[in-house]
Amino acid sequence: MASLERVWRVSSVGLTRLVLALARVTRVESGSHSPIFRRRVGARASSVWPLVSTAFLVWLEGKVAIITGGASGIGASTVHLFHEHGANVVIADVQDNLGQAIAEKYGEKVSYIHCDVSNEDDVCNLIDTTIAKHGQLDIMYSNAGIVDSSYMRILDSTKTDIERVLGVNLVGAFLGAKHAARVMIPQRKGCILFTSSASASIAGLSSHAYAASKSGVLGLARNLAAELGQYGIRVNCVSPYAVVIGTGMVPLSAEEAAKTEMAVNEIGNLKGHILKAIDVAKAALYLVSEDANYISGLNLLVDGGYSVVNPSMRNFLGSPP
Ligand SMILES: NC(=O)c1ccc[n+]([C@@H]2O[C@H](COP(=O)([O-])OP(=O)(O)OC[C@H]3O[C@@H](n4cnc5c(N)ncnc54)[C@H](O)[C@@H]3O)[C@@H](O)[C@H]2O)c1
Repeated sequence: MASLERVWRVSSVGLTRLVLALARVTRVESGSHSPIFRRRVGARASSVWPLVSTAFLVWLEGKVAIITGGASGIGASTVHLFHEHGANVVIADVQDNLGQAIAEKYGEKVSYIHCDVSNEDDVCNLIDTTIAKHGQLDIMYSNAGIVDSSYMRILDSTKTDIERVLGVNLVGAFLGAKHAARVMIPQRKGCILFTSSASASIAGLSSHAYAASKSGVLGLARNLAAELGQYGIRVNCVSPYAVVIGTGMVPLSAEEAAKTEMAVNEIGNLKGHILKAIDVAKAALYLVSEDANYISGLNLLVDGGYSVVNPSMRNFLGSPP
């Protein structure tokens, strides 16, 4: 029992091995199983698929992923999840101490490179260094982003604000995609993912600069999907509603963050779960995995239905008992 527990704790790779061991003794027959699972563990283990939840699977074994903005928030959660799933991960960020510390925590499969995504030389260096180290680039996740402020009035917005936000959120995404495509096109495969936002689908959720930048990211993703499909490169977006705790875009005290999280959950559509960075990371993992291998040009909203629900009529009519 003690040794079984040790295996359990090792990692998801260890868990897969545990499942394989179970497969030898249980021989449960089944009809359908994940292609990733089949490929990774072979036909022998496919017979235990009904016993296995997706948490046991290693989706990104042998893949090389860059995650911009990986030193904090959604990016840091995605680093964690991609690493758990066997990927080699390169964190690209401007918060060097945080990024280095995360890389050191995970060991040799995670590294950190200083990269200001709005600076083309930095982005070029990021891609070239990744290729020099790993020899390939499978996943480019452009996630780095900033907000300007919460004010919404055009008369209070400045040209400097919009240029700064577009520079990081949109130009940064463009540069990441351009230099990733430079190495993915000759490979004739790859996956480019962006973090856009629910504010690209619904008006009035953010400042004009931020909404414009995230709408631009969505347009860029779709246009890239149109161009890069011929090379086998998939391009998608993940678009969160509001993740408050654990993200650093708006500096808040722990108390303020807890209150804000409750408030945004209150106005959200889906109850019973509070959106966390790891939930967005899980959507990102799906989109870059081979289970999504015919999905391109998609904007996957992680918003509990917020963007498709207009509650005003229900509020007017009154909720059913
Ligand atoms: N938190 C939310 O509610 C929410 C909602 C929708 C979309 N998003 C988007 O999710 C992404 C991640 O944000 P988060 O909420 O995790 O916030 P975060 O601040 O925790 O993470 C953003 C990361 O981007 C990095 N970054 C900022 N400017 C950079 C630059 N010029 N070059 C490289 N890295 C840079 C930051 O250092 C930070 O590590 C952003 O694109 C954001 O716009 C967040």
